[in-house]
Amino acid sequence: EKGGYKHFMLKEIHEQPQALEDTILGRVDGITGQVRFDELENFSLETVERVIITACGTACHAGMIGKYSIEHLAKVPVEVEYASEFRYRQPLLNEKTLVICISQSGETADTLAAARLAKDSHARVLSICNSMGTSLTRIADWTLYTRAGIEIGVASTKAFTCQLAVLFLLALYLAQQRKTIENECILYQVQFLLTLPRQMNELLKISDHIHELAREYYLYHDFLYLGRGVCYPLALEGALKLKEISYLHAEGLSAGEMKHGPIALIEPDVISVVLLGRGITGVKTLANIEEIKARKGKVIVISHPEHLEVIPPVEKLLVIPETSEFLAPLLLIIPLQLFAYYVALEKGSDIDQPRNLAKSVTVE
Ligand code: M6R
Repeated sequence: EKGGYKHFMLKEIHEQPQALEDTILGRVDGITGQVRFDELENFSLETVERVIITACGTACHAGMIGKYSIEHLAKVPVEVEYASEFRYRQPLLNEKTLVICISQSGETADTLAAARLAKDSHARVLSICNSMGTSLTRIADWTLYTRAGIEIGVASTKAFTCQLAVLFLLALYLAQQRKTIENECILYQVQFLLTLPRQMNELLKISDHIHELAREYYLYHDFLYLGRGVCYPLALEGALKLKEISYLHAEGLSAGEMKHGPIALIEPDVISVVLLGRGITGVKTLANIEEIKARKGKVIVISHPEHLEVIPPVEKLLVIPETSEFLAPLLLIIPLQLFAYYVALEKGSDIDQPRNLAKSVTVE
């Protein structure tokens, strides 16, 4: 049932190109760039004034990344909040608010409570869910399914990349509805989206290489993950993956915040994993590498090819294939998932059933 893989998590990491292809299938026209969701009948954003995305754990990280493309392409303000915070905050909601709830299982207690609260406050609720016919999809007005297939490993991998794909398609869809971007820009993004599964397949070939890297680093105790823009929530996700299954201390940080405190942590035994996305946020993060190196910290860089010429010497440099700024997280996440997996493997932890964790958190 693990298809020759040692763990479900590794199998699910490798299933991502297919899961992504399935999730995109039939939802975008490669020639016109037109996005269509059969599920969104009677859905219009004309009266929507703001969007709130709420979810837990990895699903919330996907939402944080989705915010960038929805705001940039569809020009509608988006807030993102952990469902456990949202539900107790008495948020200001009305019929002009669209609340997007994201969940792999559709049964996470806090996310369900957030969805119910939104409904009771007359907000409109759209769920992004991987499991069919769940409590969340019953509460929601509309549901967009990720088509990742069953995810068994407690550490979420393929559900996350499919959530990113649906959020990105939704950003394009809303932009088309609201006529906020040029067709040329839509086509540019769609081309990159459609090449992603193939690029992901290519990237997965570095698996052995990442295993080597994990062997070098699994005995260290502290890992900082840094990024800006879309790479900030990705840093949170990379750190979450490592702590969940390897039980190591890992922190995701906004690279721009380093100088306001966390840089005090840097010393030779602290490993910094620096994420360089496409564009200005990647360029700005280069300075962090210099600062960490100056304090003798060890640095692993995962970068978009754009910055190759200007990256200072570091312990390890991994490069992803070329893509757009908003889609870079779908490729940058692959080395992060593999690194977490192989570190956990070297440490001998129970990867598919890590201690203290459940696949779906159905109680508060
Ligand atoms: O089923 P859900 O997507 O609602 O689950 C949310 C979180 O519990 C989940 O993403 C959790 O953080 C994962 N174990 C992360 O790998």
